[in-house]
Amino acid sequence: LPHGAPVNVREFELAARLVLDPVHADYVRGGAQDEVTVRANESAFAGLCLVPRVLRGAGEPVLRTTLLGHEASMPVLIAPTAFHRLVHPDAERATARAAAAEGVIMIAAMLSTVAIEDVAAEARKAATDPCLWFQLYPQPDLGFTRAIVQRAEAAGCRALVVTADSPALGRAERNDRNDFHDLPPGLRCENLRELRGGEPGSVRQVVLSPEISWRHVEWLRETTDLPILVKGVLHPADAALAADLGVDGIVVSNHGGRQLDTTPPTIAQLPRIAEAVAGRVPLLLDGGVRRGTDVIKALALGAAAVGIGRPIMWGLAVGGEDGVGAVLSMLRRELANALALCGCAAPSEVPRDLVMNGTAKEG
Ligand code: FNR
Repeated sequence: LPHGAPVNVREFELAARLVLDPVHADYVRGGAQDEVTVRANESAFAGLCLVPRVLRGAGEPVLRTTLLGHEASMPVLIAPTAFHRLVHPDAERATARAAAAEGVIMIAAMLSTVAIEDVAAEARKAATDPCLWFQLYPQPDLGFTRAIVQRAEAAGCRALVVTADSPALGRAERNDRNDFHDLPPGLRCENLRELRGGEPGSVRQVVLSPEISWRHVEWLRETTDLPILVKGVLHPADAALAADLGVDGIVVSNHGGRQLDTTPPTIAQLPRIAEAVAGRVPLLLDGGVRRGTDVIKALALGAAAVGIGRPIMWGLAVGGEDGVGAVLSMLRRELANALALCGCAAPSEVPRDLVMNGTAKEG
């Protein structure tokens, strides 16, 4: 690492602040209203203790993980985040190359500033068999929704991640203060050019509709053969509903605190959801994951893998493809180190009793 380079994921935010337009740095950092949930996501991890096992002779940890039948080099995914061109001109192209080179699953956002076909083509430049999933905000215009799902399929995406926590747009006051409500000139949502209403590719075309329901998930189930994950589940009863409906995965998420403020931190909710689902459906979790130890805590409490959102944007801002790669390899090293220190040989071998509620956090 060059002198002064970030030595952990959080330091990437400081480095990103130095290069980003403050309005865009605020867009990435921000959450809804008082940002209680943004802070809680991170501090809840710090409030859990790891109680390591010793003298296990576990050997060098092997991080490789299978998710929905897809091989990943570690149980860390790139959570879908919109508008990568806001933070770096190489945008989603750079993110896709870094993810593929690292063998990490990238969930490409529907609201990307590079078309999904081009994101997929970049991923294939960096790896022979990259794994992309596609995040969808189902639109009340079912014709458009069907068309975009078919585009994602044709581009080679291997799963559909349906965002369920956005029946309305969360109120980020940082954006209000900065009067940031649409993309700057020249940037477009390249997947939305075909969507009716408004300027083609404008953010204002997207409908975050309160009409979206489980019936849309059932409709998607009939519309595509792709595995379907539902992202943004916090209530155990909803997790049970999703499992009853036969979805292929659940992403326990509060949208990084960007939608409804004062929701519980995801890691606090995970055990209840794991109990409700009882192993019927694989669970993923995102929100506040910044350390290898955070990943282990999520694995112990029932997640098969975790997603990271903001850290990817910070890495991209700081160094494009290399910056995203640096964030991923940093987390990989930390996870390997933490697994070794806990006496675990693999992510699938992290026992529940490794985590204790407690006071690892000072004060
Ligand atoms: C997001 N997130 C998000 N989620 C989604 O389903 N569709 C989207 O378009 C976006 N866009 C988006 C933009 C930005 C800038 C951020 C920070 C987040 C939410 C994202 O997928 C994830 O749930 C959180 O980012 C996870 O929390 P951390 O890792 O950012 O703390």
